[in-house]
Amino acid sequence: MATAPGRILIVDDEEHIRKIMSIMLTKRGYHCRTAESAKEALRVVAKETFDVVFSDLNMPGMDGLGLLAQLRTEVPDTLVIMVTAFASIDTAIKAMKEGAYDYIAKPFNEEEIVLVLEKALERGRLLDENKRLKREISERRDANVFLGQSAAITKVFDIIAKVAETKATVLIIGESGTGKELAARSIHQNGPRADRPFVAVNCGAIPQNLMESEFFGHVKGAFTGADRAKTGLVAEADGGTLFLDEVSELPLEMQVKLLRVLQEEEVKKIGENTPQKVDLRVLAATNKNLKEEVAMGRFREDLYYRLNVISLRMPPLRERPEDIPMLATHFLAQAVTKNNLQPKRMAPAALRVMASQTWNGNVRALKNVVEQAAIMSDGPVIRPEDLPFNLTPKTFDPSHEAPLEAPIVRIPNDWTDLKLAVKNLTELAETEMIGRSLAANGGNRTQTAKALGLSRRALITKIALYNLDNYSSDKNLDEHDENSPQAEADEQSGPGL
Ligand SMILES: Nc1ncnc2c1ncn2[C@@H]1O[C@H](COP(=O)(O)OP(=O)(O)OP(=O)(O)O)[C@@H](O)[C@H]1O
Ligand SMILES: [Mg+2]
Repeated sequence: MATAPGRILIVDDEEHIRKIMSIMLTKRGYHCRTAESAKEALRVVAKETFDVVFSDLNMPGMDGLGLLAQLRTEVPDTLVIMVTAFASIDTAIKAMKEGAYDYIAKPFNEEEIVLVLEKALERGRLLDENKRLKREISERRDANVFLGQSAAITKVFDIIAKVAETKATVLIIGESGTGKELAARSIHQNGPRADRPFVAVNCGAIPQNLMESEFFGHVKGAFTGADRAKTGLVAEADGGTLFLDEVSELPLEMQVKLLRVLQEEEVKKIGENTPQKVDLRVLAATNKNLKEEVAMGRFREDLYYRLNVISLRMPPLRERPEDIPMLATHFLAQAVTKNNLQPKRMAPAALRVMASQTWNGNVRALKNVVEQAAIMSDGPVIRPEDLPFNLTPKTFDPSHEAPLEAPIVRIPNDWTDLKLAVKNLTELAETEMIGRSLAANGGNRTQTAKALGLSRRALITKIALYNLDNYSSDKNLDEHDENSPQAEADEQSGPGL
C-alpha cells in the first residue's frame, strides 16, 4: 500500500498547544485539523477520516476519556494518542487500557511526537493491510460458495458429489450465468485432485493464432516471437483438472488436436519432438446445444462423445425461484464486505420482486442487481424501489421477459485490433450462417448457396476455408446433388472463387 501522508486530528482546549502541534506536524507533511473540544472533534470525525487523533486528557465538558470511548465506537479504525500533563499519567494508563493506542506527556518535544505518530501510522497501515487480506480471503472463499435448496439444484449437488470422486469427464450444460464454472470448481474441489491445479480455459477468448501454443506450449525459438519457452495449459493442469469453458468455441482443427491429447494423455510442445505424459481430469462447459453444433458440422462428433461421458445440466434460475431469496441474501452480504458498506438487509417485498423475475442472465444477473442495489441504496434496508427500474414484479407485467439483456455480439476482452475484430466477426457470421443453412438444407450445397445468395463455387470455397465440409451425415444427399447437370457444370469449371 502507498504510504499516503497521515491525516491527523489534534484535540485540545488550549489554543497554543493546538497551534504548536499543528505547525510542527504540517511542516513535516502531515495533514492536520484541530478541534477545541471533544464535541467539536466528534463533529469533525463524522465528516472526515483521520488516521490518528491526538487528544488532550483534561478538557472542559467531555474529557479525553469520554472522547476516546466515543471514537472507539464511531471510528474504530482511527488510532487515538492521549496527550497528558505529568500529573495524570495514571489516567493515561487507564486510557490505554480502554483502547488508546499510546500517550505522550506534556511538555513534549518534537521528536517524541513524531516518533509516536510514525509508530501509530505504521500500525494503521498494518491493520489496513490485514483487513484487505481478510477481505480477499473471504471473497475467495465466497467465490466457491454454492447455494440452493430447490429440488433442481439439489439434484446438481448430488451429481457433483457422485462424479467428484471419479476421473470421468463431465460436460456441464447451461445458460449463461447459471453457475457452470462454479459447478466445475466444485467437482474439482470435492475430488481427490483438490490440491492440484484447476486450470480454466475460456476457449472463446484465445485468439486463433495463439491457440496451439496456449494449449500445448512451445520451446524457445519454435516460431518468430517465441523468445522463451512456454508451458501450455494442458501441461499446467497435469495431475489436476483442465476446465474447457465455452468449449463449443474451439475451432475444428483445434478440436482434432485436443482430442488426440486427451486420448493419448500426452502433449507435445510446439517445436519439441518427445511428448510429455499428462494426467488430466477434463471438465467442459457450454451454453450451446453441442449436439446441434455437431449436426451443423461445427463440433466434432468424436470430441463430443469424449467430453460428454456424464452430462450435468445447470437449471436456469427461473426453474428454481425458491433459491432466489437465499442467493440474494448471500450476494448482499458479499457486496457489503466487498465494498466496505454498512450492514444491510433485504426487505421481504424486495425479495418477492426478485423471486418473480425471469432472470435471463440467471445467477450472475441476480448477483449484479443485488450489488448495484447495495451500493446505491441509502438506508440499511433494500426496498423494491432500490432495485434497478427494469425489475418489475412479473404479476404487473407478464410479458416482461428480459430484465437484463446480453449484448448481441460479445467481443472478447482481449481483442484490441479493430480491423482484426471485424474480420473475425465476419468469419464468425459466415461460419455460423453457412453451417446453419447447410443443416437446414440437409447439406445440399446448391440449395444452401441459393438460400445464402452465394454462387455455388463461392460456397464451396468457404466450406473449405471454415472446415465445414466434414460436417454432415447428409453427404450422400450432396453427392446426389453433385451429379445434377448444374453441379457438374459447376465442378468442371474447377475450384476457386
Ligand atoms: N448456486 C450458486 N450459489 C452461489 N453463487 C452462485 C451460484 N450459481 C452461480 N453463482 C455465482 O454466480 C456467478 C456466475 O456463475 P458462473 O460464472 O459459474 O456461471 P457460468 O454458467 O459459468 O456463466 P457464463 O455462461 O456466463 O460463463 C458467479 O459469481 C458464481 O459464483
Ligand atoms: Mg462461465
